[in-house]
Formats: sequence, C-alpha cells, structure tokens
Amino acid sequence: MLEWILAAASVSPSADLERGRAAFERCAACHGHAEVLGDRPVGPPLQSLRGRRAGSMPGFRYSGPMARSGLVWDPPTLAAFLRDPQGLVPGNRMAFSGLDDETELQALLNFLLREEPTATSAATP
Ligand code: HEC
Repeated sequence: MLEWILAAASVSPSADLERGRAAFERCAACHGHAEVLGDRPVGPPLQSLRGRRAGSMPGFRYSGPMARSGLVWDPPTLAAFLRDPQGLVPGNRMAFSGLDDETELQALLNFLLREEPTATSAATP
C-alpha cells in the first residue's frame, strides 16, 4: 500500500516535468538550459533560476531595464514576466510577446523553478 502511494506520488510530478520540458521548446531558440541543451547565444541560460536575481548570470549582457529590475525569480515573478514580459520589465530585450496558455505556463514554472534541478531526472530510468 505504501509502495503504491509512493509510486502514484512520483508519477504526476515527472509527467508534469515532461510537459514543462516540452513547453521549453518555445524558449529554446534563445535560451539554453543545462538539462535540455547547452548555451544559446541570444538569451541567458535558464537552469538554476529559482531565487536568482534577474539579470545576474555572469557573461551575459543584459539590457539596463532587466539588470536594474530588482526582481528575484520565483513563481509569482516568473509567471508575471512570462505572461507579459514588457509589462513587467518595460524596455527589456526579450523578443517574446508572452504566454497566454495557463497550463503551459504552470508546466514551465514547475520545470524551471523546481527545488532539486537534477535529482528528479537522475532518478528517472
Ligand atoms: C527571441 C528570443 C527569446 C525567446 C523566444 C525567449 N526569451 Fe527569455 N530572454 C531573451 C533575452 C534576450 C533575455 C534578456 C533580456 C534583457 O536583458 O533585457 C531574456 C531573459 C529572460 C529571463 C531573465 C533571466 C535572467 O537571468 O534574469 C527569463 C526568466 C526568461 N527570459 C525566460 C524565458 C522563457 C521561460 C521563455 C519561453 C517561454 C523565453 N524566455 C523566451 C530572449 C528570449
């Protein structure tokens, strides 16, 4: 019984993670992510995003508005940014109009902001 509960508990998060990884395709033209593909030249890499200050990846030249935004990436700030990038950080250089599919947005938040970046994927056969 306990095994069944543990197994059931592990299914949904990883399925959701797959959805998030698939949704990341929309971002991958510009953004790298250590688990999906390497660096991309256009945007900053998006692994280890949780708790990171906006505009703080060494080696990436951010716009002034992004560097000065004072944001820290967590579920509320990232959701607001992805719904309306120019609304949250006016004048930033990310050429992306925003996501309006809330399911896709949640899956992306889950993928980009989960607590343990590699433990889950390492445990998956
Ligand atoms: C057309 C290219 C492009 C696409 C597509 C794109 N981005 Fe970006 N993104 C950028 C650029 C360029 C920046 C840096 C903006 C600046 O400095 O003003 C950025 C910045 C960011 C940041 C801030 C990162 C940091 O280090 O502070 C996040 C978070 C982000 N993008 C998430 C996403 C997500 C999630 C998607 C997909 C839904 C996406 N972006 C799609 C180009 C893109």
